[in-house]
Amino acid sequence: MTEVRALLASATERLTRAEVPSAANDAQLLLAHAWDISVGELQRRRLLGDEPPEPVERRLVDLLEQRAMRVPLQHLTGMAPFRGIELRVGPGVFVPRPETELLVDLVLAEVGDRPEAQVVDLCTGSGAIALAIKHEAPSATVDAVELDPMAHAWAARNAELLGLDVQVLQGPAESALPGREGTLDVVVSNPPYIPVGMVPIDPEVRDHDPEVALYGGSEDGLRIPLDVARRAHALLQPGGLLVMEHADSQGNSLPAALDHAGWSHVVDHLDLAGRPRAVTARRPG
Ligand SMILES: C[S@@+](CC[C@H](N)C(=O)[O-])C[C@H]1O[C@@H](n2cnc3c(N)ncnc32)[C@H](O)[C@@H]1O
Repeated sequence: MTEVRALLASATERLTRAEVPSAANDAQLLLAHAWDISVGELQRRRLLGDEPPEPVERRLVDLLEQRAMRVPLQHLTGMAPFRGIELRVGPGVFVPRPETELLVDLVLAEVGDRPEAQVVDLCTGSGAIALAIKHEAPSATVDAVELDPMAHAWAARNAELLGLDVQVLQGPAESALPGREGTLDVVVSNPPYIPVGMVPIDPEVRDHDPEVALYGGSEDGLRIPLDVARRAHALLQPGGLLVMEHADSQGNSLPAALDHAGWSHVVDHLDLAGRPRAVTARRPG
């Protein structure tokens, strides 16, 4: 048996050799997962010089082998933290990213003083955005729409496990919520937006995020985002807000396209790393 400190050092070294980014962080999370304890408890046991039991060490070795092959950390732990909630994720669903948390801030700034706000998250994936909004603004009515049946199942399961009253619908965003045209306060979306032909470098993304979650359907990656924006325009009431994520390379092109399509108050927003990440725009009126 090996002390936690030494085990973490060799796990970090194993992941570093495999060029896993944030190797030390991943080693810690994987050992905590293998031991079925929190990271806080792991740190306590490290300070006490504890030694994990043999089966935990074996589980860790197996997890490290998979992580070294660049299986996403979140697929191995089965969880992805997003703002104040933990989402179940795995094969068949896009892993929510920290930079997407910005969209929730932008939505909350809009619905904060409107207790009856009607919000929809188009292209919901795991349900991350919709569920975080419902968690932080419980009096808002939040719906979520997802095309892919597997991703839809993850989102529905997350809503149920988190006990959050969000209606998760399956179908194309482009024709979402028939009959609710002109009624919504906010439409939020993190659609697929990677330019077709631009294959992501990270194996975690390239090999494990579903293709339907990544590619925006045209050379500039904006076909699907603009189709989703068109539906958002129809669903919003006059003055209603669209909040949409985009690639950092689309900080000019997407706002310009929305301007051109007749949206007003088009504003682009930077993420915490200072990169263009999301656009907001209002339906005129
Ligand atoms: C980039 S992922 C974002 C997932 C989630 N909103 C998030 O931020 O973690 C895009 C999602 O859109 C879904 N999708 C792709 N095309 C769609 C469409 N036409 N209508 C609805 N959902 C779509 C994909 O299956 C995927 O779950």
